[in-house]
Amino acid sequence: MGFIEEIARRRTFGIVSHPDAGKTTLTEKLLLFGGAIQEAGAVKNNKIRKSATSDFMEIERQRGISVATSVLAFFYKDKKINILDTPGHKDFAEDTFRTLTAVDSVIVVIDVAKGVEEQTEKLVAVCRMRQIPIIVFINKLDREGKDAFDLLDEVEQKLGLTTVPLSFPIGMGYDFKGIYNVWKEKLNLYSGENKQKISTGVEFTDIDKAELDDLIGADAATTLREELEIIREVYPSFNQEAYLSGDQQPVFFGSALNNFGVQELLDCFVEIAPPPLPKSSDTRLVKPDEKKLTGFVFKIHANMDPNHRNRLAFVKIVSGIFKRNFPYTHVRLGKKFKFSSPNTFFAEKKEIVDESFPGDIVGLHDTGNFKIGDTLTEGELMSFKGIPSFSPEHFRYINNADPLKSKQLYKGIDQLMDEGVAQLFTLEINNRKIIGTVGALQYEVIQYRLEHEYGAKCTYENIHVHKACWVDPDDDSNDEYKEFIRIKQKYLARDKQGQLVFLADSAFSIQMAQQKYPSVKLNFTSEFD
Ligand code: G4P
Repeated sequence: MGFIEEIARRRTFGIVSHPDAGKTTLTEKLLLFGGAIQEAGAVKNNKIRKSATSDFMEIERQRGISVATSVLAFFYKDKKINILDTPGHKDFAEDTFRTLTAVDSVIVVIDVAKGVEEQTEKLVAVCRMRQIPIIVFINKLDREGKDAFDLLDEVEQKLGLTTVPLSFPIGMGYDFKGIYNVWKEKLNLYSGENKQKISTGVEFTDIDKAELDDLIGADAATTLREELEIIREVYPSFNQEAYLSGDQQPVFFGSALNNFGVQELLDCFVEIAPPPLPKSSDTRLVKPDEKKLTGFVFKIHANMDPNHRNRLAFVKIVSGIFKRNFPYTHVRLGKKFKFSSPNTFFAEKKEIVDESFPGDIVGLHDTGNFKIGDTLTEGELMSFKGIPSFSPEHFRYINNADPLKSKQLYKGIDQLMDEGVAQLFTLEINNRKIIGTVGALQYEVIQYRLEHEYGAKCTYENIHVHKACWVDPDDDSNDEYKEFIRIKQKYLARDKQGQLVFLADSAFSIQMAQQKYPSVKLNFTSEFD
């Protein structure tokens, strides 16, 4: 198979949802269809359970699992499908945002009873900002839930999507009878037995046929006919261009646990989802079919063995063919590196590969040279855009609790920040270090890992910060900027890249600063034009 065909058959996507909507179950069922696993229960659930075990033990458990599930690849209908894992827990939302920079499309899972939940709203907002094509899967139809049309309305209103139902449920919960596949005009009937068995639908192009009444009962048949009429009249018809540009979102209904409606989703997905897309760098747009390799690091996974500080850097290939033992340029360091054992992922296994193609993810062993956002090329000096840091939600001073181990502490902090566990800010006025995180859980992770992997101890101290704003002066020599720096001195810090950050103590102080110093722009993400 040639280079162009290899690119064309790749589908790299992420599944996003609020915890418990059924992301893990759906992932597993997709792998079952692809023949990559033989039985249900094989994909471990990597969500963090706040239960009897203490948080950091739980995080270690989760970390072990998520190495294996970071990328799950399988073949289906001759397409190579790469599913990138996204943590559902809100404290790890930043990981998910970064993973979304490496996907070409997403499937959003929604619980039919709970509807659109908070985490889904946040993640879909990021997908929409980047115009990532989205397919919605409404799950758990075997349970009582919200009316299908009400849910479509809710998805449109809360998520700002334009829905196009490509399948529609016949009843739900106790009365759940099946799914009508609008996309392929097929009827798929549900039977509660053989929960893990994969069933195939029956052709049913003419829903006015009396046979429908025999199959699902006269009442359900009448309702279905009316509902399909509404779908035809009220919703736009499917348009692939609109889906690919993020202007229209197909919706499927089903029950992942019962393997129902999943095949419809997957069959449509492989037909309509985009192959690897071009990506912007700081100098130009890079197309997947360019001969020379380019790629970027979107995730770094620390080794579970504390004695070996070896890490795995996950690189999304944007263009060219990644070859084992070929010297690639690490643009930020301006150095060449060869990789003798790049990993690729298949189902839950990872293996060494000689070649990988655009859309694929390779795992590179790293001893501390990579950080998130780094670009690899064949010599071209350019960097991919689009992996910004967002303002953390929590801020604490970090103090060294063992003066003899300060070297270990700083090395540990440095490496954990490169992995993207949290963000480090150094106050301009006194060099004190502040750790900013998305969730409170990360403080435990950092403390635990510093101790177990680096032999260093730390304590935290509260500091009142509302938000971090990246400072962008129109002109850093003007008096307004100098005045801003002088007045706000005690709130100014540098992030790890050396960018200036204003650690505002309230929404009011941001507003005041914006009014008083209009030429000094305050950004809520670290990447701005
Ligand atoms: P997540 O990754 O999005 O967090 O969700 P996960 O797949 O772990 O599913 C959350 C719970 O919802 C699980 O139950 C799972 O079995 C259940 N579930 C998933 N899909 C369906 C469905 O179609 N119908 C029904 N009725 N339930 C579904 P659990 O009891 O929390 O976990 P487990 O003990 O079954 O693993």
